[in-house]
Amino acid sequence: MNTKIQNTLNRLHNEANKNLPAMFWGLSKAIFRPLKPEDMKDAYIAVSREQGELLYKTIVEKGYKNIVEYGTSFGISTIYLAAAAKEVGGKVITTELLPEKAEKARQNFIEAGLEEFIDIKIGDVMQTLKNYPNSIEFLLLDGWKEQYLPLTKMLEPNFVKNTLIVADNLGMAGVKIYLEYVRNSPKYHSQTIGTNKGGTEFTYFINPNRD
Ligand SMILES: C[S@@+](CC[C@H](N)C(=O)[O-])C[C@H]1O[C@@H](n2cnc3c(N)ncnc32)[C@H](O)[C@@H]1O
Repeated sequence: MNTKIQNTLNRLHNEANKNLPAMFWGLSKAIFRPLKPEDMKDAYIAVSREQGELLYKTIVEKGYKNIVEYGTSFGISTIYLAAAAKEVGGKVITTELLPEKAEKARQNFIEAGLEEFIDIKIGDVMQTLKNYPNSIEFLLLDGWKEQYLPLTKMLEPNFVKNTLIVADNLGMAGVKIYLEYVRNSPKYHSQTIGTNKGGTEFTYFINPNRD
């Protein structure tokens, strides 16, 4: 990873670390109703540096070229993915519901010198990745948790043998049905890595031909 990328990541991680008030303000709006993405419009809710480095290392080691991300926010995780894509000659498709967040992320990608490795799709992921035409070797799930399962099922035809799906925030309630699916389906082999935010699930699509 070059200095330009590292400098942008340092700035963004520092900002994310100071961003707790925005997160708590967002959470406070959802005391009597479910949390909405708009509540978190100013919150980074990003992967940690350790998680980002693990994503980067995994993609570089395995040489995944076709990378898709659900949940851009301000682009911290995307920068790790794109830094790896740059190393292996790949590309990242990332998806963000809120246009203002996507625009800030785009500026961060330019600052890091990675914009040519990233395509941002703005809108609801179930629409922006509907009929997605390309194969997917690596998928990061880090958006609203209730969509992990429907999105994985929608993208299953795009997976190839040993596609890796990484799901963040296992501690959150919405992830439960996703975990039940990938842990019990013969099409997948799944294991939890670490304990940060409830752990991160690494799931391989091992049996494309099993129903
Ligand atoms: C946890 S944050 C992503 C953090 C980012 N991956 C990082 O580590 O820097 C989740 C993001 O998903 C976005 N999101 C929520 N629902 C979405 C949807 N239906 N389609 C696309 N993005 C969505 C939210 O607006 C939010 O910015």
